[in-house]
Amino acid sequence: MSIGKNIAHDSGASHVTGSSIFIDDRVDSINEVFVGIVTSKIAKGKLLNIKMKRALAHKNCLGVYTSKDLAAKKWGAIFHDQPILVEEDISYFDEACAIIASDDRSKVLEIVKLVELETKEEKPTLTISEARALDDYVYKAPKPFSQGDIKKGFEDSEHILEGEFICGGQEHFYMESQAAVAIPVENGQMQVHASSQHPSETQRVVAEALGVPFHKVVCVVKRMGGGFGGKESQAAPIAAYAAIVASKLNRPTRLILTKDEDMKITGKRHPFENTYKVGFDKDGRILSLKVHLQADAGAYTDLSSSILERAMFHTDGAYYLENCEISGISYRTNNSSNTAYRGFGGPQGNMTIESIIEDIANYLNKDAYEIRRLNIYEGDKTLTPYGQELENNMLPALFDGLYKSCDYQKRLSEIEKFNNLKTGKIRGISMSATKFGIAFTARFLNQGSALVNLQLDATVQASTGATEMGQGVNTKIQQIISHAFGIEPKDIIVMSTSTEKNHNTSPTAASSGSDINGAAALDACNKIKGRLTELVKLIFSGVESDAIIELEIKKGSLDPDIVFENNKVKQLSSGKEIDLKELINSAYFNRISLGGYSHYKTPGLGFCKDRIEGKAFNYYTQGVAVSEVQVCEYTGDLKVLRSDIYMDLGRPLNPGIDKGQVTGAFVQGMGWVTTENLVYADSGELKTYSPTTYKIPNIQDTPRVFNVDFITNNDNECNVHRSKAVGEPPFLLGTSVWTAIKHALSYRADSKQMNLKSPATGEEILTELQRLKNGK
Ligand code: MTE
Ligand code: HPA
Ligand code: MOS
Repeated sequence: MSIGKNIAHDSGASHVTGSSIFIDDRVDSINEVFVGIVTSKIAKGKLLNIKMKRALAHKNCLGVYTSKDLAAKKWGAIFHDQPILVEEDISYFDEACAIIASDDRSKVLEIVKLVELETKEEKPTLTISEARALDDYVYKAPKPFSQGDIKKGFEDSEHILEGEFICGGQEHFYMESQAAVAIPVENGQMQVHASSQHPSETQRVVAEALGVPFHKVVCVVKRMGGGFGGKESQAAPIAAYAAIVASKLNRPTRLILTKDEDMKITGKRHPFENTYKVGFDKDGRILSLKVHLQADAGAYTDLSSSILERAMFHTDGAYYLENCEISGISYRTNNSSNTAYRGFGGPQGNMTIESIIEDIANYLNKDAYEIRRLNIYEGDKTLTPYGQELENNMLPALFDGLYKSCDYQKRLSEIEKFNNLKTGKIRGISMSATKFGIAFTARFLNQGSALVNLQLDATVQASTGATEMGQGVNTKIQQIISHAFGIEPKDIIVMSTSTEKNHNTSPTAASSGSDINGAAALDACNKIKGRLTELVKLIFSGVESDAIIELEIKKGSLDPDIVFENNKVKQLSSGKEIDLKELINSAYFNRISLGGYSHYKTPGLGFCKDRIEGKAFNYYTQGVAVSEVQVCEYTGDLKVLRSDIYMDLGRPLNPGIDKGQVTGAFVQGMGWVTTENLVYADSGELKTYSPTTYKIPNIQDTPRVFNVDFITNNDNECNVHRSKAVGEPPFLLGTSVWTAIKHALSYRADSKQMNLKSPATGEEILTELQRLKNGK
């Protein structure tokens, strides 16, 4: 009924009218207490003493708590290496050292300042090169991804180019800062409302911090005002702070970080500094490639090992690499602990090869598109560097389709003419591609669950393991259920995610929220439908629907002869039909369950990183984008004149929502590679901690002409209703803006070597332009 339709986002109306409830919109509880966080003012050193006297003397202060008040001292998404509150070792500037409680919200920051930290400062490690000099890393890939013979590949190459690709981090800049409300229930039980992509992890970290078994904690997530990966792991300690105070005072608590605090305390996208050596022939065909990825993990492991791996998995981009070696390491520094961010390392890997291709184009003085087209996965060249075959490959059709529809050739020659006029402005055009692997690379996370409860009036309350952060997962699940029962989407509500309804959930991440939880929801519906199908067949065979019969229907099964449509259930062969509501009531009076729970795991996955074999991804979401930019040679000012996006989303469950994801992700990606510049003081303190100094794209920065189109692909049989995941892949297409800048600069290059860093801020553009003009 509603699969493939543009039904409105289930929270659309309440978002625009301001009636959606985020954590801080929850009505105050009686006796509620506010929590604040005291952070370190050095990046590295020892915490010698916490002086609380002045804070405790404040009339609105109810308490100061430290690591001594925690039952578990550490947490961590993969390794438990991160202090919930610093015990002794301070590892980054603005690391949480203590928490305070106040009965007056307006006094929280005042009380925070009254807590004095006595510390002994040590020399921090603030850059990747400093960490490399110390050989201090959180994770090193056990084995490089390699294919063919790179030595021979280089010997066969006419040209060899060596260089670097350097990209910065990125602040998540979600609209809702990290936040939690904790409510002590009875007998040591705690209910936590969190802005978290991972309610189960939040439940566990809270329980461990409190020293209670997991079953005493329930974590509820209604929605987030954005997560973008920043609330996959790092929402958990925030909820623990709220819960600790709630438990100490036996009062409900609320902890809402200010934007400044959030930006200073929480981790960001990983900066990378990658080195490469590429061998190619006179046409630009890549014959050999060696890439070494170096990430800045920040102070703790968090998700850095998985992120480094995903970067390695995406260093091939859309291109077949016959001979290659991709290695990686994630260094430990005294920056805040970097974490998941849309693309999860994929963008940092993918952009490396797109940058290399621009370098080859500049070196050979050729158009980069020709080089891209020459190297893409095509025909029998579909084996990735990690041994997985690229099936259902849409790349050639995407490349050729967009090349034509965006008029690339003509626009390129116009750009050449424009640039020859020497107006003080230079233009560039470039295509970037994405081939994003869909699945958590940690196999165990590829599981989802759903609980579907059919009510007697034929409406549904459903709960799944997925969390809503704006991406529309609830709307997609609504559509899946609507289609299954033949009822209208408005008759289905996807309820808050709660660990008491869906247990041991995976984070809503890796773009697979609707894939795995949607598949579970469909299966849960089918369980109920199977029982209703058995019952309806009995009714159609003559048993009165309100007869008192003893039915032994536990399992039931679907029957293609029985269809659920337009609030009716029909038997195709006999033409008989009954109102769904009547059938549901008959089931209820006959004591047949109207609820369904299902657990789903993505089949066939399993990659072994020690042997580099097995299937890492269920399938790939692919797409291409062409961007045209104009750069001012005197100011470095950038305008994105036009971007065209062409993506394969299989058969989209909701093309409208997907279009929103594509445009949003593109603009977020574009921000990462242009204006979003994180600046730190020598002390390690983040200087760009508010919108006044950290520049995300606004409406004027978006492409003046912006086209989005989807290719038809009905063949993605391995996902629910043949759809494809959309959340992260288009983020990688925003990098076409950066490669287009690089292309523009190449018109003024007297150098064979380009060094443009990301983000290409005005300063960076001017610096690189100067260097290129000087032929250095
Ligand atoms: N869209 C909105 N509006 N807000 C978000 O926080 N997060 C992105 C993406 N789209 C995000 C978003 C990230 S990082 C992921 S992994 C996916 O949504 C997660 O949701 P999904 O798996 O349901 O697509
Ligand atoms: N993607 C996103 N989040 C994750 C992953 C992944 O592959 N693994 C663990 N968390
Ligand atoms: Mo998204 S970075 O996988 O939460």
